[in-house]
Amino acid sequence: MVRGVLVSRLSSSYGAFLAASSSLAPLSNGKHCPLSLPSSFKVESHFGSLWSLSHLSTGSTMCKAYFSKKALEASEVVDIDWDGLGFGLVQTDFMYIMQSSSDGTFNKGELLPFGPIQLNPSAAVLNYGQGLFEGLKAYRKEDGSILLFRPEENALRMIAGAERICMPAPTVEQFVDAVKQTVLANKRWIPPTGKGSLYIRPLLVGSGPVLSLVPASEYIFMIYVSPVGNYFKEGLAPINLIVEKEFHRATPGGTGGIKTIGNYASVLKAQKVAKEKGYSDVLYLDSVHKKYLEEVSSCNVFVVKDNVISTPAAKGTILPGITRKSIIDVARSKGYQVEERLVSVEELLDADEVFCSGTAVVISPVGSITYLGKRIDYGNKGVGVVSQELYSSLTSLQMGLVQDTMGWTVQLK
Ligand SMILES: Cc1ncc(COP(=O)(O)O)c(C=O)c1O
Repeated sequence: MVRGVLVSRLSSSYGAFLAASSSLAPLSNGKHCPLSLPSSFKVESHFGSLWSLSHLSTGSTMCKAYFSKKALEASEVVDIDWDGLGFGLVQTDFMYIMQSSSDGTFNKGELLPFGPIQLNPSAAVLNYGQGLFEGLKAYRKEDGSILLFRPEENALRMIAGAERICMPAPTVEQFVDAVKQTVLANKRWIPPTGKGSLYIRPLLVGSGPVLSLVPASEYIFMIYVSPVGNYFKEGLAPINLIVEKEFHRATPGGTGGIKTIGNYASVLKAQKVAKEKGYSDVLYLDSVHKKYLEEVSSCNVFVVKDNVISTPAAKGTILPGITRKSIIDVARSKGYQVEERLVSVEELLDADEVFCSGTAVVISPVGSITYLGKRIDYGNKGVGVVSQELYSSLTSLQMGLVQDTMGWTVQLK
């Protein structure tokens, strides 16, 4: 892949320093419109094959970039094997950054070339984990337009999580606007229809310095994106889970119900051990009775028996997934009885199907669950009928293949 070289420097008013290599959007022939750059960039000069771009903010030159003409001309196309996409980070062109002001409100954010940010070593997020993340996806439709799926739900979940860990958060409008800007600036990285999606990762972190345990005085809201394919290497093929007996993901009164960053490092060990034994991931039980299903490391879980689909109630120890919520509505609209309640681990023995849900996986059918050394198999190694039906309904909606009667998708362009 031909890449333009970007060297940039940002003043500390951003709290950010960029030094990145990037490839950018298309060059047309004129000096003044070489790229689909955010408005805060302008062309400064043009020296043969080198283009100098500047990014201006608060009157000072924040960033200079040099792109070879060849790189710019090649840059509409990304050199990616769309068929080989997994769920790993592929760096794209731009990220979005917005800082809080001293009164805790967020001011106008902006797009910057993707790259490292500078953080004070005593930033609250680094020392005490005061941070949240979100995850949502953009899909490219066959007509070239772009669809987001329920982005305001992610904004609301970030606001709820921020409240729990004493952070200010962007408003729903700021959040959704930032997502749209970031997706459009990186639109050449959205996989063709049917090849995957653009995963969008908003972050909200305490960037202000702390030493004692107090909320930070400053926060940064950021968004970066990456084209993705399947989350589990199995794709829609069934995954194999093991019920975790020793470790718990969350406790009542804790932070299991929000998407705080600390919830994720704590599941790595159980997941690592499970993977070493050949399982795809672990299924957690509640930490009090050790008998009710909670969720998988990063997905919700559903159990199907006859016409009834049951899922653990979201009462603070599991993440209220947006896919979970959408599946509940879609399943009810199809005539299934959906129950949000305590689901005992014993019910796994008798279930017809089990599946997981999440933005990354959408729906992942479970082929087997191992509990107390006993393996329970589902679906005769195939995808269960209900899992398949709900997967097709939801993905058709997300990808714009059917009319969105739920009003869940947001069209860009
Ligand atoms: C712990 C956990 N549970 C469930 C989910 C699924 O949530 P959603 O459907 O909003 O992606 C996620 C994914 O973000 C998660 O991290």
